[in-house]
Amino acid sequence: MRIVLVGPPGAGKGTQAAYLARNLSIPHISTGDLFRANISQGTDLGKRARSFMDAGQLVPDEVTIAMAKDRMAQPDAVNGFLLDGFPRNVGQAEALDAMLDDEGVKLDAVLDLEVPEDEVVKRIAGRRICRNDSAHVFHVAYNPPKTEGVCDACGGELYQRDDDSEETVRTRLEVYHTQTEPIIDYYRAQGLVVTIPALGKVTEVTDRAMEALKGSE
Ligand code: AP5
Ligand code: ZN
Repeated sequence: MRIVLVGPPGAGKGTQAAYLARNLSIPHISTGDLFRANISQGTDLGKRARSFMDAGQLVPDEVTIAMAKDRMAQPDAVNGFLLDGFPRNVGQAEALDAMLDDEGVKLDAVLDLEVPEDEVVKRIAGRRICRNDSAHVFHVAYNPPKTEGVCDACGGELYQRDDDSEETVRTRLEVYHTQTEPIIDYYRAQGLVVTIPALGKVTEVTDRAMEALKGSE
């Protein structure tokens, strides 16, 4: 399946993507994770992306689209993928459509995670991520690690993202409303959007998502 995951910062896209990708046997492609990996490796791409990310703004389309295209061309993505954080504006959605057209394939669904704003603020404030693997995501209150600051899965150090400060989160939410939300209408016009409430336990949200995606195969 070819799926786009959309929702505000902190909605649980990364958390759900890890489970959904495993259940559906497709790779989880997160542009945010790809940028963070480039930053930690000190690449030119990472250097270009960093100031935009730290400010909570979108990285310019030309950089983002080229990176996403490159990743989607990898052998593991030939038969499907779960996109998390891409596309993030209508220009990127059009570029993705053009890429898929070139391959003669289509998206199966756009899964929209709906979460109230006060909840996403709480989720982001308590989020802790593993230095070894960005799929190891915790929350100090909702999903605490057994030992504070230590990843349950691999023993790695847990850290808080630079762009998770209160001020930057406010900017990211504004950018989501003005630039990303319009892609929901763009995809609604193609009949692809399935919206699910993303409140409740992580496993409950995964079950809801799997159920909603059944109709899209
Ligand atoms: P990105 O990394 O994509 O960040 P985001 O969209 O802001 O989303 P987050 O990673 O903050 O949240 P999430 O929805 O994945 O939530 P999570 O699962 O971690 O992008 C970062 C930046 O990169 C952008 O600002 C931009 O600069 C740049 N960028 C990326 N893509 C781009 C693009 N296409 N174009 C241009 N720029 C781009 O969950 C959050 C917390 O909640 C965790 O602690 C988790 O444990 C907890 N949680 C999850 N589910 C539940 C639940 N059901 N109940 C309780 N707690 C929960
Ligand atoms: Zn870990």
